[in-house]
Amino acid sequence: METKNNIKHLAIIMDGNGRWAKAKGLPRSKGHEAGAKTIESITRFCVDHTDIKTLTLYAFSTENWKRPKSEVDFLMKLLERYLKKELRTYHEHKIRFHAIGDISKFSAKLQKLIQEIKDQTKEYDGLTQVLALNYGARDEIIRAVQKLNATTSEINEANIAQALDTPYGELDLLIRTGGERRLSNFLLWQLSYSELHFSDTPWPDFDVDELQNIIDDFKNRKRNFGGL
Ligand code: FPP
Repeated sequence: METKNNIKHLAIIMDGNGRWAKAKGLPRSKGHEAGAKTIESITRFCVDHTDIKTLTLYAFSTENWKRPKSEVDFLMKLLERYLKKELRTYHEHKIRFHAIGDISKFSAKLQKLIQEIKDQTKEYDGLTQVLALNYGARDEIIRAVQKLNATTSEINEANIAQALDTPYGELDLLIRTGGERRLSNFLLWQLSYSELHFSDTPWPDFDVDELQNIIDDFKNRKRNFGGL
């Protein structure tokens, strides 16, 4: 009997908040608020699903600054609210919080909060929840190569992987919600051998039953990693 795939690292492009809100005649901000609730329920699911060690979520991209200032400001406030609220959950479930991306563009207050939560949870060995914040994969790769250049390390696969923001081993499965079938500059290096799943469900409606079905399908996929 063939052994089933194990899922250790799951990443999600949480798309469709704006369209979800529009379809309900609501402002886009309501879609983002509902999206933040979905993060809570999916994170809880991953805590209980012991195979999953790392959950990486695309929360704000290097391109999202192009949105109207009012929406960017709202997303920043929502992130602050979310982190303050979730801190209890991180402690309760021993979740290690981590952020990837270049947060130096965020307000000093938000940077401090992110750093404090990282510090407070760094010893936890339950799930690691990673928020991609002002994240772009090309930016991550450029920063990694610059780091290696500065330390005159040899440029090879292992060194680049180590210098990236995400030293969490292989990424097993990427899910994108919201109906689009593209990668939008997310984890381009890490996705080399990942399985992909595109869901039409907008992120605010994405739920644990759908995630369980996607994981069940993933477990039965044949992964070759370039071999036979
Ligand atoms: C995409 O929806 C969503 C994002 C901009 C990133 C994800 C943001 C959230 C889930 C909000 C809460 C996040 C945190 C960390 C508190 P969209 O606006 O692109 O939707 P659309 O494609 O339908 O317009």
